[in-house]
Amino acid sequence: MKALILSGGSGTRLRPLTYSQQKQLIPVANKPVLFYAIEDVIEAGADEIGIILGPNKDQVIEMVKSVAWSVPIKFIYQGEPRGLAHTILVAEEFLNDDFVMYLGDNILRDGIVRHGERFHSLDSSASVLLTEVDYPQRFGVADLNPDGSIRRLVEKPKVPPSNYALVGVYFFKPVIIEACKSIEPSWRNELEITDAIQWLIEHGYKVDASFVEGWWKDTGKPEDIFEANRLILDDIELKNDGQIDNSRVMGRVVVEKDTKIERSVIKGPCIIGKNSIITDSYIGPYTSIGYGCQICGTEVEDAIIMDDSKITNAGKIVESLIGRNVRIQESAALPKGYRLIVGDNSDISL
Ligand code: TTP
Repeated sequence: MKALILSGGSGTRLRPLTYSQQKQLIPVANKPVLFYAIEDVIEAGADEIGIILGPNKDQVIEMVKSVAWSVPIKFIYQGEPRGLAHTILVAEEFLNDDFVMYLGDNILRDGIVRHGERFHSLDSSASVLLTEVDYPQRFGVADLNPDGSIRRLVEKPKVPPSNYALVGVYFFKPVIIEACKSIEPSWRNELEITDAIQWLIEHGYKVDASFVEGWWKDTGKPEDIFEANRLILDDIELKNDGQIDNSRVMGRVVVEKDTKIERSVIKGPCIIGKNSIITDSYIGPYTSIGYGCQICGTEVEDAIIMDDSKITNAGKIVESLIGRNVRIQESAALPKGYRLIVGDNSDISL
């Protein structure tokens, strides 16, 4: 089986972060979201992975190549995002076998091994992962036949035919390529994967469903990233590879190599990445601090602070998503007040 992982798209809902970085590289518990997908497809037996690239292709290539993966990875450039079905057409040459398509901004707690085994044991042309949700109106929703196969898929229905939403993982036989070639772009000018799947159903191919039981998160919006970060941190185990002096550490806290903590209170679950320095600070539950960060005289809780950021005497920071190489500090100059240089589409609560 091959795997096609989607790491293109514009990530407009995560601006301004996505002006400078591809959203699938945003770290959740100090690991890029994309890496969860790569690990899942390898665990499910993919023998080759194709990664679809979008606007920030070079940083995706660099990040993926920084790890020695156990299967070959091919990079496939899509360019402007023209839809999920369009990525299959761009990857047509690569997709000469059964494959799993995995949206690179999705995280599934229990991986996809069981779903892959199920697909291989059935004689369906496709199998889509579904999960039960409270507000199906916000998702792509499946209308199911009595035998559990898919009758129809509907995007954000006003009157949902079921509570089963599409998770961003799909298993396909190569016939999906013909389906993607046969459909027309939608009103938003994208080739929709739901239309390609509908084409399969209408042309007599069986499309199966596989139900996800553990949690699933699509990290398309900041609140989803916080939620994914909390869910992953809920499962971490205590580990200290750093140096902790005159500090109080409570709960499951991961302190990575070459990190120093002095005169601080750390309350888990949280993770503090390597080469960081925390002094005179409070790091509270559900916080992920990246590599090479410095936090001094500041309280941080329920937040993601990415690599190489420096925060000094900044009061209390909660539910915040702070990019790479950011500086936040108390100003010594008068007049006192907030001094802000803020990019387009930022979101600040004072
Ligand atoms: P979306 O989250 O639906 O789209 P997006 O990344 O453009 O985000 P936004 O809506 O905030 O602008 O895409 C789902 C996943 O598929 C995501 O991982 C990006 C990827 N994708 C591609 O690789 N190519 C595409 O053409 C599209 C539409 C998405």
